[in-house]
Amino acid sequence: MISKISIRSILVVLLFAVLGCGRTGQQEAAAEADLQAGFQVLETSCFSCHSPDDQAAMGIAPSLAAIKAAYGGKATSPEQFRNHLAAFLLSPSPETSRMPEAIAQYGLMPKMSLSEEEVAAVAAYLYFTPLEKRDWYAQHFATEQERFHASEQELPQLEQGLHLAMATKAVLGKNLLQAIQAGGPEHAVDFCSTRALVLTDSMGRELHAGIRRVSDRNRNPANAVNAAELAYIQDTRSRMEQGEKPLGQVQQHGDSVTGFYPIVMDALCLQCHGSRETDISPSTWNTIQARYPEDRAFGFALGELRGIWVVDMKR
Ligand code: HEC
Ligand code: HEC
Repeated sequence: MISKISIRSILVVLLFAVLGCGRTGQQEAAAEADLQAGFQVLETSCFSCHSPDDQAAMGIAPSLAAIKAAYGGKATSPEQFRNHLAAFLLSPSPETSRMPEAIAQYGLMPKMSLSEEEVAAVAAYLYFTPLEKRDWYAQHFATEQERFHASEQELPQLEQGLHLAMATKAVLGKNLLQAIQAGGPEHAVDFCSTRALVLTDSMGRELHAGIRRVSDRNRNPANAVNAAELAYIQDTRSRMEQGEKPLGQVQQHGDSVTGFYPIVMDALCLQCHGSRETDISPSTWNTIQARYPEDRAFGFALGELRGIWVVDMKR
């Protein structure tokens, strides 16, 4: 797996290094590996909020074509395009934004857990794919899916599980943002309490895996941890305290594999899981208390480990 990721990142670097000087057959091949990785990240983690169809924007976030234009599109160099995108994606904030009007309209995007390689692959895909062309979606999207989709099976299980968790996160995040946009955080508590578990389950069924979100400081008693999950959480927390980046882990038992992946607090989460004094409004607090009298899922700071994804897969 390590070799696969590092080969990919070398390809990315190569791709960006040579583009200024024209393209040869070899560079086209490098681009293909990257386009594939980029499309796969977009498909699992971005399309649910950012429509690949510019004519059918979803009203929850800007279309990918609008983002591409705001980030300079073909008017900028591939390196600059990637750098600007990386600045925002690795740390979404008004400071790294190039679309302040989108933040005002939709609220800040939740942070997605992407590696630098994944960001570079997304940048390459957006830069080199003419998805802003009027008929691109109608004429090319299905072909792109066929061309890039199938190879998921080849990924190591640690990455497969991460993709499953990210796909679920993207769908949950989309619904959460919609609920907040529609009626503020108190209303969104309703969404979380009636829909979060159902949506997580149904994503699992759709993706043929068992997917859960659990925490040692849980809100819903149904999301409590078992011993193996707690051990992973404690280990990950102490690594994060040492300044290490939290990493996923797989454990094998019989013919199944379980993946654990960190869930880290971002700005969107504070209004329901942050400090009671400064982040959670009194009305949101009351709504949460009424539903979850034994709530332990508040008082988290930005960047702290909130809980984990648990993904059960067949070997
Ligand atoms: C849960 C919904 C959601 C998901 C999933 C999502 N985004 Fe966003 N994104 C938004 C919203 C809302 C905005 C507009 C507000 C903003 O700019 O922060 C946005 C804005 C952006 C911007 C422009 C940011 C700026 O302000 O300059 C980029 C770039 C972007 N998204 C890329 C991505 C990529 C790449 C992915 C997948 C890895 C992704 N997004 C996944 C909701 C989402
Ligand atoms: C609008 C309020 C709200 C926001 C915003 C919110 N949550 Fe939650 N969260 C809840 C509620 C309510 C539950 C309980 C859901 C249930 O009953 O299944 C929950 C449950 C969870 C759980 C499952 C474990 C547990 O404690 O029951 C995790 C993990 C979690 N949230 C993480 C996050 C993260 C990460 C974010 C930011 C991306 C976030 N939440 C944003 C309200 C919210």
